[in-house]
Amino acid sequence: MGDWREARTLEELYQAIKDCTRCELARTRTHLVFGVGDPLAEIMFVGEAPGYHEDRQGLPFVGPAGQFLDQLLRSIGLSRDQVYIANTLKCRPPDNRDPLPGELETCTPYLFKQIELINPRIICTLGNHATRTLLRTNTGITQLHGKLIRKNNLVYVPLFHPAAALHKPPLKAVLVDDFLKLGKYLEEERKRWEVMSREPAKVETEPEQMGLF
Ligand code: URA
Repeated sequence: MGDWREARTLEELYQAIKDCTRCELARTRTHLVFGVGDPLAEIMFVGEAPGYHEDRQGLPFVGPAGQFLDQLLRSIGLSRDQVYIANTLKCRPPDNRDPLPGELETCTPYLFKQIELINPRIICTLGNHATRTLLRTNTGITQLHGKLIRKNNLVYVPLFHPAAALHKPPLKAVLVDDFLKLGKYLEEERKRWEVMSREPAKVETEPEQMGLF
């Protein structure tokens, strides 16, 4: 395996980490679930960890929660191949237990490398685990969902996990509402990026010659 830190594309990163054995989850996984979608996506979604179906297929969010995510994406005119979807952990924890701190520490550098390569305008953290891990906060999703949060030059919008809404149907409407906000945030971020790209580079220039005579 080449050094994954040197990867210049998602494909190079995938090739470098697909046989990863840096934690115990390598022993029990069927597939490492790298991520899927547009390598130039404007929005990136980050879930917790692959479940049964994801581990079998090697793709994130392909079970019932994924179908609901697809539905939410359609509600703001997006499809799965226009965004990028990944998880905090790339391998399934046995019996879908919560990720262990050591597993997160080992695995999230891969996720941050993906974020660096994709350079999305907005990162949506899905559920408490992804939100706490990426934003390094103890504040829960109930308080943070639907808010736009800027941190370390990245823009986050925490959302309830689609699986949570399947268990608690009142959360479905909250997610639908937050996706509408997400559509608006995306418009605003597009404008902000446009303005930034037009701003002159901040370099020291010679003071202009004054026409004294
Ligand atoms: N739940 C997640 O957090 N990620 C998946 O990929 C599937 C279900």
